[in-house]
This record gives sequence, C-alpha cells and structure tokens, in this order.
Amino acid sequence: MQTVTTLPDLRQAVDELRRFDSKRDTVALVPTMGALHEGHLTLVREAAKRADRVVVSIFVNPRQFGPNEDLDAYPRQLAEDSAKLEAEGVALLWAPGPEAMYPAGYATNISVSSVSDGLCGADRPGHFDGVATVVCKLFNQVRPDMALFGEKDWQQLAVIRRMAGDLDLTQPHVDAIYGVPIVRDPDGLAMSSRNAYLSPEHRAAAAALPRAMDEAIARIRDGQEVGPTLAMLEDEVLGAGFSSVDYAELRDADSIALLDHDNGKARLFVAARIGGTRLIDNKPV
Ligand code: PAJ
Repeated sequence: MQTVTTLPDLRQAVDELRRFDSKRDTVALVPTMGALHEGHLTLVREAAKRADRVVVSIFVNPRQFGPNEDLDAYPRQLAEDSAKLEAEGVALLWAPGPEAMYPAGYATNISVSSVSDGLCGADRPGHFDGVATVVCKLFNQVRPDMALFGEKDWQQLAVIRRMAGDLDLTQPHVDAIYGVPIVRDPDGLAMSSRNAYLSPEHRAAAAALPRAMDEAIARIRDGQEVGPTLAMLEDEVLGAGFSSVDYAELRDADSIALLDHDNGKARLFVAARIGGTRLIDNKPV
C-alpha cells in the first residue's frame, strides 16, 4: 500500500493505479476520519468487491466540527490505521494534512439544503456544509468510479447523494455512491470511533439505545402512536444512564422529512448523550 499526503503525489498514484494491467482499472473511494474499526473495514471490503482498486482517505476534517465539539480530542492513529488497511489489500491511502486540504486563502463552501435540515443538521450547525465540502473535494481529488459510505450516518449519505447529483459529480467520475449497512457490536451498539471515549460502565449502558429503538419500532409496527412511543423510548434511554436525548424522530428514509406515522419507508433516528459522548443510530421501521 502506498501512502500519499500531497495532491500532486495523489494524482500520480491514482494514474498509476488505473494503468495497472493494461485495461483501465476501476477505483473505489472510502472516505474516513481514521480511528478505523470493523465498520470502516466493512466499507473497504465492500469496495474491494465492486472495484479493482480501493483508495481510502483519512482526514479529520476541521470544517465539520463545531466550536465546542471534539476536533482536538478526536482519535488520531495513522500508523495503526495504515496497518489495518494494508492487511485489507488497500492500494492507496490518501492522508492529507489540513494545509493540503485547505491551503491559505481557501474560501469555498458547499451547502446542501433540505436533506440537511433537522436531526444532526439542526443540532450541529455547519456540520453538513463541512461534510459536503470535504467529500466534494475528495471526489475531485481522487476522481473515483464509485464511493462507499455507511448507513450509520444515514443523513450524511443523503446529503452526499444530493450534493453529487446536484453538482453533476456522478458523471463521469463518481458513477455510484453505495450505502453499506450499519456494523454493530454483539450487544447491538453501532460501531463508532467515538465509542472509544466511553468508560466501561457507559459502554455497557449504551446498548440500551439500540434496544430501546427495537422496542419502539416493534410498537410502531404494532400500530401504536408514534409520539407516545418515542416519548417512551426517551424515558428508557434516560433511565439506562444517558444524560440527554438530542432527538428521537421518525423520518422518511429518502427525503429525511419528519413523519408522524409509518409511510412505508420510515426510519427511526436517535442521537443521545452518555458520559459526555454523543451517539447516533438509525433503524428502518
Ligand atoms: P467516519 O466517521 O470516519 O466514517 C467513515 C465512514 O464509515 C462513513 O461513511 C461512516 O458512515 C462509516 N461508518 C462508521 N461507522 C460505521 C458502522 N458502524 N457501520 C457502517 N459504516 C460505518 O463519516 C465520516 O467519517 C466523515 O463525515 C467523512 C464522510 C469521512 C467526511 O469527513
């Protein structure tokens, strides 16, 4: 696996990857912020099934962190991540520093409306602008044939699909944006780099979140009213040791519009805090 940290080196390395084997090889991009776990590695494996060559980016993107968020504390472990990617047969690691991504004078922002309203868009102002901007740049830097994202960040996936479609990025260089199902620990908690912040007690208690979501979904499927069901979910999560629930909402899977009943493509979205760590999850109804 080759590692590159500047744009000219990246461009040359991708050109070389494509020239491999006389025919034009396809390239899949898996964007990440590092601190890689099985969720990320599942994206890498799915990418390898779909493309000849896999490029992974690791960049802790300052523009998607709010002023009071965990940018400085966010885990950075490039050597460990690099070894994991090497073992997965990844061809190229793109690991730019902040100055390579946002050189002095950088002034452009991409803002996607509608699908970024509500949920994390409401709780984290500017977050999805930061995500859309960096992902657009990553697509233009790597020029992959496809890119893969986790359903763990369902709203992020919707924002990226919208951005790529609206800005005509899907032809010619990103033909497909694939969503990969959420990878969970055995107790049901969705894997996340932020789970590393949890104390053993909080980590054990955190499994109450997906459990309460399953119960709420069963009640909604049973025909019970959405409002009281979500209030019950909040109570259960708070009772289990979470300090607050940022949101617990039923929304349309595609448009992310708020729903008060199951319209056939409803998803349950929750963000809640435990021990100072904000966890998010989503499941289909
Ligand atoms: P990061 O949180 O590192 O996640 C990188 C990718 O891994 C995202 O597409 C995310 O949805 C996916 N992922 C994380 N946990 C997962 C899980 N348990 N199961 C399945 N997929 C999972 O998301 C970001 O980084 C950034 O916002 C990024 C898109 C890289 C832009 O900076």
